Amino acid sequence: MQTQPMTQLPPFTPQLQAALEPVYDRMSRVVPPIEWAVHAPYVAAIEEWKRRRNAVILAHNYQTPEIFHGVADITGDSLALAQQGARTDADVIVLCGVHFMAETAKVLSPEKTVLIPDLEAGCSLAASITGADVRLLKERYPGVPVVTYVNTTAEVKAETDVCCTSANAVEVVRSLGVKRVIFLPDEYLGKWVASQLPDVELILWKGHCEVHERFTGEELRRYRRSDPTLHILAHPECPPDVLAEADYVGSTAGMIRHLDETPFRRVVMVTECSMSDNVADAHPRVEFVRPCNLCPHMKRITLPKVLRSLETMTYEVTVPEHTIERARAAVERMLQVGRGKRG
Ligand code: 13P
Ligand code: SF4
Repeated sequence: MQTQPMTQLPPFTPQLQAALEPVYDRMSRVVPPIEWAVHAPYVAAIEEWKRRRNAVILAHNYQTPEIFHGVADITGDSLALAQQGARTDADVIVLCGVHFMAETAKVLSPEKTVLIPDLEAGCSLAASITGADVRLLKERYPGVPVVTYVNTTAEVKAETDVCCTSANAVEVVRSLGVKRVIFLPDEYLGKWVASQLPDVELILWKGHCEVHERFTGEELRRYRRSDPTLHILAHPECPPDVLAEADYVGSTAGMIRHLDETPFRRVVMVTECSMSDNVADAHPRVEFVRPCNLCPHMKRITLPKVLRSLETMTYEVTVPEHTIERARAAVERMLQVGRGKRG
């Protein structure tokens, strides 16, 4: 893929450095000055192109600090990106995240141009299930409502009664008020929801996040033995033995709020590596222990690719109209249920 910018990048002069100092301050603990000298000209060029295109950049919490703090207008977990992407009045959305997030933005804002800087930024959960799989499950369990994690394709969402994210999964399932639910496709998130709602039977799929499934309970017990005061925050995509060791379980945004609320000394965020990097400067007193598992899909998005995306208006994410309508109903039902409830 061609990632050389077409525009001439501004040189990293003392003037540029001074102008972007407030931006650098937000990431200086994790991005050394020598790297900032490379990133800053891209940040300046991207800002210019955002103005020209009337574009906003939405970035997931797993994006690298130079994207998250450097060029994003809206940052957050999957729920926040879905909510805020629907509200923006920009003409163009550049989604710094993975493909299903860009599709969700398109489903909620079909009149906007939605771009993703790398089309191959996928997700092992979204790849684990198809619309045909969901239709088969519905045939097998007639009348049982289908709740689908937002980490799925628009085609799968279109077969769904209501979507959820890790922030509102328990709330969404509870809101249905039924005894049995088909919950797709994240088996571990489903098990977590089931543990919180013992009166509801969840029919689960065997989809897993390739990043979170690599953490183990033993790894966390080792950390805990070396420092019993360590505070462990884990994402519900982790296996049950990992969640059993956690002091807090929640979405990426939930973890940030939890961190903001209590002055912990040493913290381990059991999730994708960039999370700790993105919160480090805002929590100078906290030491982050980093068991680093990278999401290779999230890491496909880089500043040069973001710039190229704006220059060339690539890669446009489209969803067929009939899919948009049905998928949107499922996402909007989630937004109604989840309003005001964050995990
Ligand atoms: P949240 O940001 O919604 O917690 O999701 C994590 C994730 O893995 C997104 O791909
Ligand atoms: Fe998918 Fe896991 Fe990467 Fe999130 S971290 S995009 S769930 S593979």
